[in-house]
This record gives sequence, structure tokens and C-alpha cells, in this order.
Amino acid sequence: MTAFSLPQNSKIVKGNFYKDKTGSKNLKTVNVYRWSPDDGKNPRIDTFEVDMDNCGPKVLDILFKIKNEIDSSLTFRRSCAHGVCGSCAMNVDGVNTLSCIKSHNDIKGELNIYPLPHLKVIKDLIGDLSNLYRQYESIQPWLKTSKTNAEKNEILQSQEDRSKLDGYYECILCACCSTSCPSYWWNGEKYLGPAVLLQAYRWISDSRDEEKKERLKKVADELKLYRCHTIMNCANSCPKGLNPAKAIGSIKKMLATS
Ligand code: SF4
Ligand code: SF4
Ligand code: FES
Repeated sequence: MTAFSLPQNSKIVKGNFYKDKTGSKNLKTVNVYRWSPDDGKNPRIDTFEVDMDNCGPKVLDILFKIKNEIDSSLTFRRSCAHGVCGSCAMNVDGVNTLSCIKSHNDIKGELNIYPLPHLKVIKDLIGDLSNLYRQYESIQPWLKTSKTNAEKNEILQSQEDRSKLDGYYECILCACCSTSCPSYWWNGEKYLGPAVLLQAYRWISDSRDEEKKERLKKVADELKLYRCHTIMNCANSCPKGLNPAKAIGSIKKMLATS
């Protein structure tokens, strides 16, 4: 049998241990993936003992506590801290999620925090989403209409048509779904992946948009669309409770019946 092993400089090594200095009796052990492009060292897992008596309820609160009180070099993305911007997505205890809405009380024992899987790491918990953003741009995520500027002030939609966007417009492009999709792991350069395909469907199904056919044609591709094998990891990992696999299925059905 062929044996595969990681290149030497990709192996994750044991990192630093930061012992609690507060004397708290309520400690949580938190293991965090660390990697910096600046020091030429291997990625490592640092372990922090965190005083939970003085910590907010979410995983993001733990990360802030570590950054503010233990190691200021810890690097992660966040903005809204309310599950709205999508920037704090990471892998917490083996599941992709938003650290600002994930309660650490849900996780018994040690807490393991990694960047979203199968992305190039920029630093620590920050994955490189450039490819996903390029793919997002490729589906032209804006309203296409022949209406003039004067007419465009308000383009009305029936309540029924508006409701067709439910389950899609709520997507915050956090990438938890795409980075949990095995097809996207292996073919991410060509397969658009669940986040971008859900967005594509959101515009295809908007009654105000006049380029439904062109949009469908653009994604009707063996690699861009049909690499979805309905594995459903995407729906299981979406922190907003959306179902990208359903959107992908709807695009396939539209193509089959158009
Ligand atoms: S569908 Fe869900 S998991 Fe995927 S990008 Fe949108 S909000 Fe994030
Ligand atoms: S259903 Fe499709 S998009 Fe979702 S995880 Fe599976 S292969 Fe990926
Ligand atoms: S910080 Fe905005 S979604 Fe978590």
C-alpha cells in the first residue's frame, strides 16, 4: 500500500503551554492552531489555560481573552461579534462554525480551535478566501435589469416572489459550508462550491432579475456545478441553518427542465 506523509514543514508540532497565572479554580484548556509566515517554523498547537470565571460565553470571548491577557500575537478575524458578518468562521471542536455565536459551554473537556479546513493559512486562524471571493465575483452577484435609473428607484416584487429568496438571502458568505465540502476540498479551483452556488441560485430565483437564462448557462458546467455529490456536509455545517445542497439541487432541476 502506498504510504502518504505530509512534507516535513507542514507537520503540526506541539507548541507553547501557557499556564494559568490567575489562580482560578475554573479553568478551561484551549488548544489553538498557530502558524506565522514570518518565522519559517512549522505550524504548532499552543495550549492555554483560560480562567472561565472572567470570560464571556462564546468561543470568540475566549480568543479575545487569550489575545488581551496571554498572547497578543494570536491572530483571527472578527468584526460584528453577532453572527452577521461571517468573518469569525473557524473550526471549533471539529465543526466549522462562527466563533462569535458558538457557546463554549457546549464543549466539554478541552477546546480545540483550528482555521477553516483546506484553505491556505495566512496566519494562525485566518484562512485565505481569495479563491472563494473570485468565484463569488464570477457569478455576478448583483441585480441585472434593463430598467433605467429613474425606474430603478424601487422595483416591486410580490410577497410570493419575495418569499422565494427565503433560505438564500440570509447567507453571510462565512464559507463554513464550502470548507466542509469534500468536493470543494479536492476541486476548489474549478468547482464553485456550496456557498457560491447558493448565491448563484439566490440571483437566479430573484423575480426582478432579467438574466436568469444566462445565469443558469454560466453555472451549467461539469466542474462548476456537477461536482456536488449531495454529501450534505454543507447543510450540516451552516451556522445560519441554510441548506446549500437544496439550492444546488434546484439549479440542477431548472437545468434539467429548461
Ligand atoms: S450557506 Fe451558510 S455556511 Fe455557507 S456561506 Fe452561507 S451562511 Fe455560511
Ligand atoms: S451536498 Fe454538494 S455542496 Fe454540499 S457538501 Fe455535499 S458535495 Fe458539497
Ligand atoms: S464576528 Fe461577525 S459573524 Fe462572527
